Amino acid sequence: MTNHTAQHNGYNGGELLAGIDEIVSIISGSSYVVGMTGAGMSVESGIPPFRGADGLWTKYGNPSMDGYSQFKKNPDDWWNRRTNDKIDAHIIELRDALLNAKPHAGHYALVGLEQRGAMQSVITQNIDALDEKAGLQNLIEIHGNRTKLRCIECGERVSLGDFVPMYAPDPCTHCNGLVKFDTVMFGEPIPEDVMVASRSEIDKADCVLAIGTSATVRPASGLLWIAQKAGATIIEINPTETKLTPLCEVSLRSTAGSALPLLLEALSA
Ligand code: APR
Repeated sequence: MTNHTAQHNGYNGGELLAGIDEIVSIISGSSYVVGMTGAGMSVESGIPPFRGADGLWTKYGNPSMDGYSQFKKNPDDWWNRRTNDKIDAHIIELRDALLNAKPHAGHYALVGLEQRGAMQSVITQNIDALDEKAGLQNLIEIHGNRTKLRCIECGERVSLGDFVPMYAPDPCTHCNGLVKFDTVMFGEPIPEDVMVASRSEIDKADCVLAIGTSATVRPASGLLWIAQKAGATIIEINPTETKLTPLCEVSLRSTAGSALPLLLEALSA
């Protein structure tokens, strides 16, 4: 693979369609395309990202990295804090944004790419359940799903639908284990079933489409470097450059909501 990065990097404005054409030819020549999405994928649904100018961590400071050990130490206290709003301001902002969020044209375009066989699966770092709501089938939620509970012993997951528990849920009906939200807390290992599934998709990929991620949080971001090392072509859609940009065959300066519908249209032409 010749590295066009220097020349092709930074498609923007009028070059958007040229960049889309380049992506179409790469995807058309690929046999197993995997999407890796991050917070930027849901910004146009009103959910703030974590880093960068409008990021939650930029606004409120980085969260403590021991959330999971604190939860395990005293789960009742963790749930009680939720009921009396003694929770971090960033969680309140994120929670309110999540409650009102709906999939946008970019989410539906990913479903379209999947339906026409142009993309075989998506690994999302987002917990917002918007890909599921849009109808994506081959979806791996590597950081969990906010509309589900999970037993930390046996891994059993239960869907909550639109119900948002404010009090500690009952122990696991399967093994009587401790139950928490399915979302992965800081300091919590990625559940093994999800990690194995993600790695298996990445190992099959000859092309990875990284959309709206700063590619900074492991192990999810590490999968991108693993794929590239194994010879997969990396494509990026992001309004700004990221750590991943130098590895990309094409790096498109655009938003998920504008680029993905254009990509689906071009692939369907
Ligand atoms: N379309 C596409 N990309 C966008 C858009 C948009 N409309 N708006 C912003 N972006 C890009 C930003 O430029 C940035 O590179 O999305 C990226 C978001 O980066 P982060 O906020 O770091 O989100 P992410 O990469 O998903 O973070 C990974 O970190 O805090 C943890 O658990 C959290 O899953 C999250 C993980």
